[in-house]
Amino acid sequence: MTLIKIQTPDDWHLHFRDGDMLNETVPATARCFKRAIVMPNLVPPVTNAKMVEEYRQRILDARPDNSDFEPLMTLYLTNETTCEDIVKAKQVGTVAAKLYPAGATTNSDAAVKELDALFPIFDEMQKQGMLLLIHGEVTDNHIDIFDREKEFIARNLTRIVAAFPGLKIVFEHITTKDAVDFVVAANENVAATITPQHLLLNRNDLLVGGIRPHNYCLPVLKRNIHQKALREIVATGNKKFFLGTDSAPHEKDQKESACGCAGCYSAWSAIELYTHVFDELGALDKLEGFASHYGADFYGLPRNEGTITLVKEDWTIPEQIILPNGKPIVPFFAGQNCTWKLIE
Ligand code: DOR
Ligand code: ZN
Repeated sequence: MTLIKIQTPDDWHLHFRDGDMLNETVPATARCFKRAIVMPNLVPPVTNAKMVEEYRQRILDARPDNSDFEPLMTLYLTNETTCEDIVKAKQVGTVAAKLYPAGATTNSDAAVKELDALFPIFDEMQKQGMLLLIHGEVTDNHIDIFDREKEFIARNLTRIVAAFPGLKIVFEHITTKDAVDFVVAANENVAATITPQHLLLNRNDLLVGGIRPHNYCLPVLKRNIHQKALREIVATGNKKFFLGTDSAPHEKDQKESACGCAGCYSAWSAIELYTHVFDELGALDKLEGFASHYGADFYGLPRNEGTITLVKEDWTIPEQIILPNGKPIVPFFAGQNCTWKLIE
């Protein structure tokens, strides 16, 4: 029996949603992760300290009995966000604020339309020691969807990083070689999260042999050279790149639709699939750093004390899961084989 034991990991980017969905998503993540950075793109979005505190409590209430899982809360930036909002959010323990360019993804319509107008807010965040988490895609109609991340780096990210060298910035769910190269070359206050789907798949897995709506997420899967760059960088153990699943549930019929939602619900298999990938890469010795050390170090938080153990054993990810509202959801990698299993 082949086992791997690592310090308890954290998920540095996910979507729990709200209401009774929390009874599905929170236990799924808490089964192996001690902490998670919780995205604020609810309807309405989490835009102030009061909303942060209330949402945190709803998440805590959805934890399984005896769970010591800890949600790490984020604030949703809009062009109405004030410096006072940042100060108050920080006072209630908000660790980061999320920048969505308006229209970039799920529930981002209320988000940032005028990036430059937010520079005073970034300045306040830098003073407060609040991290900036960025969905790095431009949204202009004339920019091809496969080029939107690259264009965001050139047009926006480069200048934000230059203007705020003391602001810790996480370039979220990166998908391109351009993003890898940018983060590697940037100062030490710039890091990135990487999802299981962007390590496992490329755009052929979305489009060849029929459209696969359950592989549709944003930023969209890119061509294989980009997937290769992501795989290569995690295999080096570079500490600027760490685990962020972007687990993002949408009900089955909202994915299998003429206008399907973006997001892969990976919470039930994410740690196993990352392990599967690191094994394929011959880099299992780098898994613990990626999953359990580099994120905490970057956020300036202590590493977790416990451990988790995985066993090398084939299992099939379920075809569907029934949500608390009775509706089905298709988990990421449904029906496919994973070569590592969490021992619970
Ligand atoms: O695929 C995605 N789904 N990407 C995002 O940026 C948001 C997320 C969601 O909230 O569904
Ligand atoms: Zn996300």
